[in-house]
Amino acid sequence: MTHKLNNLTVLGAGVLGGQIAWHSAFKGKNVVVYDLFDDSLQRCRVAHQQYAAIYQAELGATDAMIVETRARLTYCSDLAEAVGQADLVIEAVPEIPETKIQVYRQMAPLLPAHTLLATNSSTLLPAQFAEATGRPDQYCALHFANMIWSMNLAEVMAHADTADDTLRAITGFAIEIGMVPIPIQKEQNGYVLNTWLVPLLNAAQTLVTNGVSTPEYIDRTYMIANRGCALGPCGIMDVIGMKTCYDVMHYWGNESQDAQLLANAAYIKQHFVDAGKLGLQTGEGYYRYPDPAYQAPDFLAVPPMDAVEELVALVRPRGLAAAS
Ligand SMILES: NC(=O)c1ccc[n+]([C@@H]2O[C@H](COP(=O)([O-])OP(=O)(O)OC[C@H]3O[C@@H](n4cnc5c(N)ncnc54)[C@H](O)[C@@H]3O)[C@@H](O)[C@H]2O)c1
Repeated sequence: MTHKLNNLTVLGAGVLGGQIAWHSAFKGKNVVVYDLFDDSLQRCRVAHQQYAAIYQAELGATDAMIVETRARLTYCSDLAEAVGQADLVIEAVPEIPETKIQVYRQMAPLLPAHTLLATNSSTLLPAQFAEATGRPDQYCALHFANMIWSMNLAEVMAHADTADDTLRAITGFAIEIGMVPIPIQKEQNGYVLNTWLVPLLNAAQTLVTNGVSTPEYIDRTYMIANRGCALGPCGIMDVIGMKTCYDVMHYWGNESQDAQLLANAAYIKQHFVDAGKLGLQTGEGYYRYPDPAYQAPDFLAVPPMDAVEELVALVRPRGLAAAS
């Protein structure tokens, strides 16, 4: 092992940045969370209170472990201060290439020589940003899944100039914080996970955008067909966060000139992002939280006979007269 990565800085205090920061601190790393916006740092602090409760309930964390985790976390809106002691910086700013490039360029002169860099980008390639980092050999992708404490995988993807020592150290870091590293053998937009998840979510969104079915029935279908899973694609979009869903569909819709993807992005912007319904983290997206409908005990139950009229009303396209 060439580096021992004890001091982590996470760029972006949003949904995933906040999770990576909390989880790494829980696993013993010293963590600085950096964000350009103070209100994002404040939201991250609130999310960390919620994670403390989740880690106690689901992982058996003790009060002492939570106190120690908090003591290892610092929140910061000064980039130079945030990265000055970092052994590893994980970038989790929005899925917008210009934003990522701007952050890398701004950070490059501020980093200690030994610092390694990784992007948590969901669908972009490290090759797109390697030059902007100013240290391509010390840079790769390390992609985490949402709900890092239970979906403990970390996809490791190099670009052509990533050094083997960088991959060794970053893979070692992933193991130290309890992840199962998933080696990606060549650059691929979406790694393994998002190569299927993004098309699944886009397909579900297409059904909603085009008025084919409702979010609840789309999720019911998925959850019955995949018995035992905790939520369906519309619920997953809430967990990911509507802003990131929008960023991904908008970017790839433009890249591929895909009219349906762009229509899906527009739908999400109009109904959720512009309405401040950003998903689980803000308490409302497709579902209302806590206690979303898909967690109700009868969500997958066979309906009672008196539900027939309601169901027929959903089958019959609005505005068409029913044949008797
Ligand atoms: N949400 C997920 O489920 C998920 C899963 C895996 C990977 N990712 C990836 O992680 C990255 C972040 O996604 P997210 O869902 O956490 O987004 P988010 O919108 O929740 O958070 C992004 C954060 O970056 C901050 N930010 C914006 N511009 C900035 C700048 N110039 N400098 C510093 N901070 C800035 C915002 O204030 C916000 O707090 C994206 O690349 C996304 O693809 C997301």
